[in-house]
Amino acid sequence: MSLPIDEHVNAVKTVVVPAAGMGTRFLPATKTVPKELLPVVDTPGIELIAEEAAELGATRLAIITAPNKAGVMAHFDSFPDLEATLAERGKTAQVQKVRRAAELIKAVPVTQDKPLGLGHAVGLAESILDDDEDVVAVMLPDDLVLPTGVMGRMAQVRAEFGGSVLCAVEVAEDEVSNYGIFEIEADTAEDDVKKVKGMVEKPAMADAPSRFAATGRYLLDRQIFDALRRITPGSGGELQLTDAIDLLIDEGHPVHIVVHKGKRHDLGNPGGYIPACVDFGLSHPVYGAHLKRAIKQILAEHEANDVSDVK
Ligand code: G1P
Repeated sequence: MSLPIDEHVNAVKTVVVPAAGMGTRFLPATKTVPKELLPVVDTPGIELIAEEAAELGATRLAIITAPNKAGVMAHFDSFPDLEATLAERGKTAQVQKVRRAAELIKAVPVTQDKPLGLGHAVGLAESILDDDEDVVAVMLPDDLVLPTGVMGRMAQVRAEFGGSVLCAVEVAEDEVSNYGIFEIEADTAEDDVKKVKGMVEKPAMADAPSRFAATGRYLLDRQIFDALRRITPGSGGELQLTDAIDLLIDEGHPVHIVVHKGKRHDLGNPGGYIPACVDFGLSHPVYGAHLKRAIKQILAEHEANDVSDVK
């Protein structure tokens, strides 16, 4: 835990994971199950994030959680009774599955009492950082950015240009109002890297400065915490991380984006979660082949029904 920062690959010790949201788009499931625990095949989204954070070289996962979402932290506990029962029955692969989350990374809870926004949630993590951490990563558990590794690329870009680096995807014009949107400088030497001139949270289509959207992966200079203290409520009446980043840019802080060309899944709503499950399921060594046959059959049945509906 207290390894010095320079012994961390990519010099990132802590990944902040805002996970205090109410999960309203997943009701009724989220009455009792936090959305971060919904499984993609068999693994909760929060464990996929822990895996990506460990791959980046981080050793601490600061989970911003609400008082009624204790299950998210509990996923990183140890389960000696369950492990003993599984071991007695010779289920060694399952024992490994039970242990994996806690072995990946040290999860540290940070409680957000009120839903005051993403900016407020990230700001709370400052209290658990060590003095030698001049950069903090933020990963939004709703966003799966695949293949993983974009954070490593972002760390390279930060090493080159300094400041803060975010991940962006290009979205359709009618989607810009769902995201933080970047205003970018015309030319940067590397194709996948662009310098940012400004950032605006959920603009109307007509006001959007580009179609490059923030996609849940941030590498932020520690100065972000000072900026977060100086912003006022923005889009949706909440304290927005986007506004703190925009404030830093105004003050001359370098911000770049890495444009991700791979896949992205939005686990935050059923319409994005289901394709993610299908995608992971199709690649799964045990379930993949059966799932492919099942999907073909389901599609054929639906198409047949569509045809008979038209008649
Ligand atoms: C948040 C951020 C937004 C970003 C998005 C990515 O919005 O505020 O800037 O583009 O995540 O998923 P939310 O989806 O929480 O409304």
